[in-house]
Amino acid sequence: MGRIVRTHDQGMRKPEVVVVTGASAGVGRAIAREFGAHGASVVLLARSRDGLEGARQDVERLGGRALPIQTDVSEDLQVEAAAEQAEREFGPIDLWINNAMVSVLSPALRMTAAEYRRVTEVTYLGYVHGTLAALRRMVPRDQGVILQIGSALAYRSIPLQSAYCGAKHAIQGFTESLRSELIHDRSRVRLTIVQLPAVNTPQFSWIKTRMPRHPQPVPPIFQPEVIARSVYWVAHHPRREFTIGLSAVQAILGDKFVPGLLDYYLAAVGYGAQQTHESVDPERPNNLYDPLPGDYGARGAFDDRAAEYSVQAWLNRHRGWLALAGLSLAALSPFFLKSRSPHS
Ligand SMILES: NC(=O)c1ccc[n+]([C@@H]2O[C@H](COP(=O)([O-])OP(=O)(O)OC[C@H]3O[C@@H](n4cnc5c(N)ncnc54)[C@H](OP(=O)(O)O)[C@@H]3O)[C@@H](O)[C@H]2O)c1
Repeated sequence: MGRIVRTHDQGMRKPEVVVVTGASAGVGRAIAREFGAHGASVVLLARSRDGLEGARQDVERLGGRALPIQTDVSEDLQVEAAAEQAEREFGPIDLWINNAMVSVLSPALRMTAAEYRRVTEVTYLGYVHGTLAALRRMVPRDQGVILQIGSALAYRSIPLQSAYCGAKHAIQGFTESLRSELIHDRSRVRLTIVQLPAVNTPQFSWIKTRMPRHPQPVPPIFQPEVIARSVYWVAHHPRREFTIGLSAVQAILGDKFVPGLLDYYLAAVGYGAQQTHESVDPERPNNLYDPLPGDYGARGAFDDRAAEYSVQAWLNRHRGWLALAGLSLAALSPFFLKSRSPHS
């Protein structure tokens, strides 16, 4: 049964309308499927025609409605046009998920200014464009949720990903500033960030790399469906921030308490942890400026090493109930102890 949203006009109800950027592959593709399976109307933004067509089929097969729109999120006018088309065809947008990204795996000294610009324009400004397009529609209606797909690397940068880590930090700064503005304006539009651990997605098969060996997510690795399940939950129980995976929690806490130690730890292990043992063609095609042909789907090449479940994410989702259960037990324990006492 799909999630139904009450609209302003006389309580009429419609399936929720969700926009997902970077919906053609990886985490975005898994999120689109998750919402499709819940009967949502899913607007799919990305560049690849093949990937978007695959995502459309997935969403419709699972019971949702799909609207693929070829969009480069680095272009604000394209994002605005996509938002307009989304509302024209599906009605008011209830939820906007910013997720699209590109990266370059390279020491900073070997990066070009153009590469920094491109990664920033897609991975950071793409989020700004999406957020503004959503706000222009949600603020006047005083309802809606904007969900940013973040990363543990928004707190703790790692070597070889300076452009991407910079963009993830920038998203954090932008979102926190905007959140205060929404609170100041007493807006009911909600803004939430989901911080991710390493995920098995096509990213590692198509990012531009200058390293000798095949890129990989830094273990432990999770399947994108683990992320999609939590994203669906957070979208309907928006928190300021929601972190998935113990490894992401550790990275964030480590950066808070022992950042200098982490600098040295990552200098020692960060290069090796981001590459497999297999060599990679230095000329392999990459998706920095244009999408690759074909449909890559949600999962990447690390199925055999990726977890299907995160206990931490489950505990995080249920922390309210768990806290209540803990408090109830603590409150009741004196009665239990008393009733078991030989003097009672
Ligand atoms: N995988 C991980 O280990 C990991 C870890 C932490 C956080 N994350 C976060 O998860 C999110 C998704 O990452 P992922 O691993 O799923 O990446 P991915 O597999 O590389 O997928 C990236 C998606 O973004 C789209 N995209 C790229 N450039 C675009 C552009 N200019 N305009 C519109 N769409 C564009 C791609 O589609 P087209 O090529 O069709 O445009 C694709 O759908 C990102 O925000 C990332 O920071 C991932």
